[in-house]
Amino acid sequence: MNNLHLFLPCAGGVETYLAAEAAKIIGDAESVRQEMGGVAVKASWRQALELNLHSRLASRVLVGVMQRPYRSEDDIYEAACDVAWEIWFTPKQTFKIDITATRSPLKSLNFAALRVKDAICDRFRHKTGERPSVDTQRPEVRVYVHLSAEHVSLYVDTSGEPLFKRGWRQDKGDAPLKETLAAAMIAASGWQPDQPLYDPCCGSGTIAIEAAQIALGIPAGGQRRFGFERLLPFQKHVWDAMKSEALRAVSMPAVGQNTLEIYGSDVAHRMVDFAQRNADLAGVGELVQLRGGDALQRKPPCDVPPQGAVILTNPPYGERIEVAGVAGTGGRASPRVHTVRSDHSPRGLRDEFDRPMESPPMSAGTRPARETAEFNQDEGDFFPQLATHWKTHFDGWTAHLLVPDMKLPGKMRLKETRRVPLWNGPIECRLFRFDIQGRRATPSEPSSASA
Ligand SMILES: C[S@@+](CC[C@H](N)C(=O)[O-])C[C@H]1O[C@@H](n2cnc3c(N)ncnc32)[C@H](O)[C@@H]1O
Repeated sequence: MNNLHLFLPCAGGVETYLAAEAAKIIGDAESVRQEMGGVAVKASWRQALELNLHSRLASRVLVGVMQRPYRSEDDIYEAACDVAWEIWFTPKQTFKIDITATRSPLKSLNFAALRVKDAICDRFRHKTGERPSVDTQRPEVRVYVHLSAEHVSLYVDTSGEPLFKRGWRQDKGDAPLKETLAAAMIAASGWQPDQPLYDPCCGSGTIAIEAAQIALGIPAGGQRRFGFERLLPFQKHVWDAMKSEALRAVSMPAVGQNTLEIYGSDVAHRMVDFAQRNADLAGVGELVQLRGGDALQRKPPCDVPPQGAVILTNPPYGERIEVAGVAGTGGRASPRVHTVRSDHSPRGLRDEFDRPMESPPMSAGTRPARETAEFNQDEGDFFPQLATHWKTHFDGWTAHLLVPDMKLPGKMRLKETRRVPLWNGPIECRLFRFDIQGRRATPSEPSSASA
């Protein structure tokens, strides 16, 4: 158990950040190797638990138990028969096989998975006279199979539910960002906890909540259960001690002493309520400041300190989440009434952030955002207006936007200073960085000039 070959899969584009994170968690960069789609780590069982508890970027932590060349399903069966499954679980437990492949010559992945299942059951029957049952819905143990063109790799999963499920989310909204991707955006942006961070389209609050937990050192998995708790090497007293130690290391500020400057706002007040509930459940409800408001109207929540200030967001884009607010002129959905939220912050609101929203520029087809927010069928006007708003009001901020549109900088008429490829599930995206250089607004100029 002290010489395990782990594989930590992650979203495409996250590998570099995950390698650095894993090296930090186990305190050993030599044992970490970046690969395509994840990171390989030589580690002990204890370190496997630590990676589960602390990694914000990995999707799971898998223990490699076999890698062998194969040509046919029979080779896969033989390979699976040679794994000592009995050191990981018992025939009284249920299990499930998950299979993935890249360039495998086999015709049916389902059949290959079936052969692994047969091998596990046959080995248990031979060793103990009993066989475990399959449960595809709520398995106690998950076995992963990966087929490359020439090799079969078998893994025992130690995570259970994927690691993006931190255990605090109750309210999702329509298109929540996975917590692991929010953490990847934070890592790629280079944000440091002493800098203000603002998400102007915060939805259910994922970016702000992840950032606050990172700043305080709250372990990513401190509120959830893991697959390893059902595996035979698990020792509850070791795990309890590890968790207690991690929770003792959290640097929660005393009441009234919060120095974090983490802000989120969203045009949909329903989403702001979701975000606040999620933040409360994540233990950072008093430390992030969440408000309603249109991104095209919200003024900066604070001044830019010498160390810089960061906007980090995945804005509304495409069919699933459409632009609302002053740029939402399509009128497809029914209007929603804005209300002003009450203050949840122990130290009260920052003046700037609490300032009532400005009246939007009145033009044909646009209604005051204070009263209504309408959905638009495309985001055509939103991004140019956002660029204008930022140039007018957010001088000195560094903005990072995650979007699936490679042409966004052209649409915003801004030159990006960096573009980082990141995959949002199957969707290829870019995290664009823009260093906002402002121009002063004249008193008569509206905050969101029409593009
Ligand atoms: C892709 S979602 C963001 C998801 C979020 N990161 C999360 O984790 O839940 C985009 C969000 O932008 C909001 N939105 C749409 N138009 C907006 C506008 N004009 N100003 C501010 N927020 C807007 C939507 O209500 C939605 O919550």
